[in-house]
Amino acid sequence: MIELKDVCYARLGTRDMEGAIAFATGYLGLEIAERTRDAVYLRSDDRGHTLCYFDGDPVDQTVAFEVEDEISLRLAADTLDRLGHPVEQGTASECALRKVKSFVRFRDPTGNQIELAVRPERSGKRYFATRDAGITGFSHIGLYTTDPVRDEQFWTQVCNAKVSDRIGDIPLMRVNEIHHTIALLVSDKAGIQHINHQVQANDDILRSYYFLADRNVEIVFGPGRHPTSGARFLYFKGPDDMVFEYSVGVDAIADEEGHRPRQFGFEPTSLCKWGALPKGSFRR
Ligand SMILES: [Fe+2]
Repeated sequence: MIELKDVCYARLGTRDMEGAIAFATGYLGLEIAERTRDAVYLRSDDRGHTLCYFDGDPVDQTVAFEVEDEISLRLAADTLDRLGHPVEQGTASECALRKVKSFVRFRDPTGNQIELAVRPERSGKRYFATRDAGITGFSHIGLYTTDPVRDEQFWTQVCNAKVSDRIGDIPLMRVNEIHHTIALLVSDKAGIQHINHQVQANDDILRSYYFLADRNVEIVFGPGRHPTSGARFLYFKGPDDMVFEYSVGVDAIADEEGHRPRQFGFEPTSLCKWGALPKGSFRR
């Protein structure tokens, strides 16, 4: 069994690096940790980076999870290989690009590009963004799935994720106490559906709503409150149509043994208890 500690970083290809940097720093509220010839590394908390844009195809999207140590990584690679998920070992130069000690990559059953990383770098310098969005850190990821039942099995039986709640057949899964670190969303393709950053307070959600709406950033859902995790949220569109989310107040599941996943119906009130409706392509 593979034990994921936390989500670690996302890597997104883009053909418009300047646009991506302008959005990430001026709207989303991340801090540039480093810019190289063909990539930018962005911070959202005390980690060295949690988002990387690189020159490349926008469909080239990867999410990484931290595992405990090199032994865990080797065992994880063996498990994946044995179960028919081909694993590639990251080279030294690829590790340097990701600022990790070592990593492996594979695809989940839908085809999502996943990396497992050991010892991602932290920074001794305080995260300090140019826009004060109130971000406290990168927290979870929405991943597309072409078969939520099959992929729930993969994430829970192979990667030790636990289902916190379900909306229809869509599982919200945790890898630590936080209500969910991985949410699956049905689609006919692989990829990242949204990238979540936690913010400090309800005020940050509403402040950002007005800030972004004033600047014609497309708000796709919210402000609202998830009945599942209890989080107050705002979803909006960034470069290459990637959706970003701010949220605050996500439940922690401390009673690991006692928690039973709750079943919510596949209807709008399962997504927002205040009555907000997802818009456009986000509605799916
Ligand atoms: Fe989310």
